[in-house]
Amino acid sequence: MVKVAIFGAAGGIGQSLSLLVKLDQNVDELALYDVVNAPGVGQDLSHINTKAKLSSYLPENDGLAKSLENTDIVVIPAGVPRKPGMTRDDLFKINASIIRDLAEGIATYGKKDVFILVISNPVNSTVPMVAEVLKKFKVYNPKRLVGVTTLDLVRSNEFLKQMLPEDKIDSSNLFVPVIGGHSGDTIVPLFSIGCPEYYKKLSTEQRESLIHRVQYGGDEVVKAKKGMGSATLSMAYAGYRLTSSFIKTFKNEVSKEVAFIELNDQLKGAKEAKKIISEKYGGSHIDYFALPLILGKDGIEEVDYKILEQADEKEQEMIEIAVKQLEKNIVKGKNFISGIE
Ligand code: NAI
Repeated sequence: MVKVAIFGAAGGIGQSLSLLVKLDQNVDELALYDVVNAPGVGQDLSHINTKAKLSSYLPENDGLAKSLENTDIVVIPAGVPRKPGMTRDDLFKINASIIRDLAEGIATYGKKDVFILVISNPVNSTVPMVAEVLKKFKVYNPKRLVGVTTLDLVRSNEFLKQMLPEDKIDSSNLFVPVIGGHSGDTIVPLFSIGCPEYYKKLSTEQRESLIHRVQYGGDEVVKAKKGMGSATLSMAYAGYRLTSSFIKTFKNEVSKEVAFIELNDQLKGAKEAKKIISEKYGGSHIDYFALPLILGKDGIEEVDYKILEQADEKEQEMIEIAVKQLEKNIVKGKNFISGIE
């Protein structure tokens, strides 16, 4: 039995993500939670003839607690998205308290071994926030909490394909690891490792423009939607990809993904990653980072730290820049929970 709950299920990402999860034949139950319209979205989805049993909840009548009953995986796209001219960090003020309250709900009512996938921005701060809440409640397991950065990989794969149309690349088969964080300069795509054969073909200008597009691709969508929100459909696709890898762990399947995680000593490879980030990139306070990881039945089984040394010269410079920004974002998230502002 696998039960997935989606918090913020009636939103732009939430609705499409709920649809994709409802179509997954490995899911037995899907619980939708939102402060508005969850029952409407739930009623609609409940007419689809796939296996997952639907339930939907609003905050009243203990909705949050009920949505978490026997839930194995919680995915969180709750909060507000960007408008033109806003950075992800600008969302902090509004989203921080939403995420804190939801994390407290998970800590209070969730199963101790629930997997938690955080989509809400700014991911660089919201993930440390959730971890701090779970630590406070003494229910934290670093193998089971991730920030969703999958859209950065999806974009890297697709934008590379679009840059080299004559090569007829199947972008669904690429795996460009994107490490660091999930905002602007903290997004570091490692094309030299993910697809060296194509990357070699690009001029310096093409490489720069490709990397810039991956780092700021979200702005293209925000601008095109003219105030009506940020990426929702591509994000739902990316969010589902990571969610489905977690769902597959219940069938003892192992997957390779990239996600923003705490570099906690309990994770194989995390200590090594922290050491390299500190010694090579000057990030002595960095304890969260997006890295490739192996997902298995207990969650994160292993972190690929070697990639931090395999990056080419330009990518190494980018990691150094990312680390500086990331440190501030992480501290901001932690301080919000400890009450220091
Ligand atoms: P949206 O505004 O369409 O949907 C958000 C939903 O969250 C709404 O239905 C709202 O009612 C709900 N919500 C608000 N407070 C809540 C609470 N306390 N409990 C439960 N639900 C609550 O926004 P959209 O476009 O779906 O984006 C959601 C979040 O995802 C934003 O923070 C956005 O920045 C982020 N995002 C993250 C990406 C990533 O790569 N990780 C990519 C794109 C967006």
